[in-house]
Amino acid sequence: VIQLQAGPNDRKYPVVIGSALIAQSAGLIRGALTASQCMIVCDTNVERLFAGALRAQLESAGIHTSISTLPAGEESKTVASTMKIVDQMETNGLDRQSFLIGLGGGVIGDVSGFVAAIYHRGIRHIQIPTTLLAMVDSSIGGKTGVNTERGKNLLGAVHQPSLVIDDVDLLKTLPLRELNQGYAEIIKHAVIADAEMFALLEKRPPGETADLTELIRRNIEIKARFVSEDEHDTTGRRAILNFGHTVGHAIERAGNYRDFLHGEAISLGMVAASRISMSRAGLKKVSAGAIENLLQRYSLPTSLPKGIDREKIMTAVSADKKFEQGQVRFVVSPASGSAELSAKVTLDDIWDAISRL
Ligand SMILES: NC(=O)c1ccc[n+]([C@@H]2O[C@H](COP(=O)([O-])OP(=O)(O)OC[C@H]3O[C@@H](n4cnc5c(N)ncnc54)[C@H](O)[C@@H]3O)[C@@H](O)[C@H]2O)c1
Ligand SMILES: [Zn+2]
Repeated sequence: VIQLQAGPNDRKYPVVIGSALIAQSAGLIRGALTASQCMIVCDTNVERLFAGALRAQLESAGIHTSISTLPAGEESKTVASTMKIVDQMETNGLDRQSFLIGLGGGVIGDVSGFVAAIYHRGIRHIQIPTTLLAMVDSSIGGKTGVNTERGKNLLGAVHQPSLVIDDVDLLKTLPLRELNQGYAEIIKHAVIADAEMFALLEKRPPGETADLTELIRRNIEIKARFVSEDEHDTTGRRAILNFGHTVGHAIERAGNYRDFLHGEAISLGMVAASRISMSRAGLKKVSAGAIENLLQRYSLPTSLPKGIDREKIMTAVSADKKFEQGQVRFVVSPASGSAELSAKVTLDDIWDAISRL
């Protein structure tokens, strides 16, 4: 078991990573807070797999626990789900001292964190991520929220959790495609901040599960570092984490979030961003090639299928708020293990990269 501290300096919280942690969760939670009532938010898949064991743990420690279950999938990241959870919390008598546990992937982490941020003006939130993506990315940093008709994450709050528990055993039931999309964010962290981890990933068998605890720790430290330097995303530091995301988000939007999983779209976005980095930031051709090879090693897409409409993707890029305001800020990687915001990248550069994807 590894324990580290994440979060902004004045609100550090423990992140515990290891095996068989659900069985120790009551003790871990008791170490972080003293409340006697909570609700677990999860989705239908996760409820079936893990919710019963977690509730039994909490009850054994004298914590009265109810469960709120949403249908699995991005469709549950809505205001309607938010109100459903709030309603169940009120029915079960949860008050300001109670806490909420998000047990699930990024969808559950985001919506449960949002409820925790606003219920009685904010109650404590515990993240128990069950996907690799949620462990290395979405459970860290305090960004919470839901989607509106207009788009993703348009309603939300920054609300840091009180504790994060990463039980690597929970990943055993995760479908391979879901596991691999988590590796897209891990590869992103390697490209922007950790050349040594990049080399490690090049050697590590893709299906390896033995050293996951250490790999997850390393990624949380990278994400937590960028977040603690710029919690509210205002200085450009946290924006570095968006490497591959300008084109990636546009691919997701153009396909109405159905063609690719988030990590898959980001994989394609990183291929585009590394080619743009070659022409605008001096990234060596071999380094850009190495990024593509590494993505392929984790069965992530590096070229767009024929039927996909490139112009629609470009339209989605142009509609991006940061481009409408004129000042283009694009994350480039000048060399493996480093990244920076560039003002040199033009919409023409981006179109060129998308048309060649
Ligand atoms: N807040 C942030 O900083 C942040 C960062 C990145 C992504 N996100 C958000 O995260 C979401 C994507 O997260 P995700 O990829 O984890 O999606 P998800 O929560 O939808 O989970 C993916 C699927 O895996 C299933 N599942 C989860 N754990 C499982 C397990 N252990 N075994 C078997 N099946 C399991 C789920 O039921 C679901 O069907 C998006 O909404 C995205 O916007 C947020
Ligand atoms: Zn992402």
